[in-house]
Amino acid sequence: MSNITFSIFDPLDESLKESINRELRVYNREKNPAFFAIRDLPAGDSRPLNVVAFDADKNPLGGLIAETQLAWLKISIVSVRSDSRRRGIGTQLMAFAEQEAIRRDCKYAFLDTMDFQGPDFYQNLGYRVSGRIDDWDSHGHAKFFMTKLLVT
Ligand SMILES: CC(C)(COP(=O)(O)OP(=O)(O)OC[C@H]1O[C@@H](n2cnc3c(N)ncnc32)[C@H](O)[C@@H]1OP(=O)(O)O)[C@@H](O)C(=O)NCCC(=O)NCCS
Repeated sequence: MSNITFSIFDPLDESLKESINRELRVYNREKNPAFFAIRDLPAGDSRPLNVVAFDADKNPLGGLIAETQLAWLKISIVSVRSDSRRRGIGTQLMAFAEQEAIRRDCKYAFLDTMDFQGPDFYQNLGYRVSGRIDDWDSHGHAKFFMTKLLVT
């Protein structure tokens, strides 16, 4: 170790970042060839899955933004307009996304949510807490990682 020096960068030069990433990619491909063999095919691409609810005048009332990749539905955002909550719209958005994900051969769903958002809403829909990080926002609120088995 005597000839090795360490430097802190903020930000990191793109070519240095790429050289670090390259090593990880090589390692991952060696350790998990089956995954990368399918991930490199069109069938392994992630595909958007977005659902929007509209009122009779075509105004958006809420939406769900997600993607599917291989066995996973990954949900990023679920939001219903404040004047339209608690009318079943969120439940329907989730149901449409899950049904489409199953049609795309997904087996599992994943999302994350803060303690002041929807952990109970998602638990009612069959999601289970797979992980929790306290003080995620640095202001005392926890983030929950939640998953659901879509097919048994
Ligand atoms: C969370 C949210 C998407 C739910 O949508 P919604 O249309 O209000 O939900 P639904 O009307 O389908 O509610 C279904 C059930 O969950 C309950 N519920 C809804 N929101 C809830 C919440 N935040 N926490 C706990 N329970 C909730 C409802 O009371 C209802 O229960 P019930 O059938 O026993 O009456 C919506 O309230 C919202 O946009 N909240 C603010 C943004 C947010 O937190 N988004 C989630 C980010 S991860």
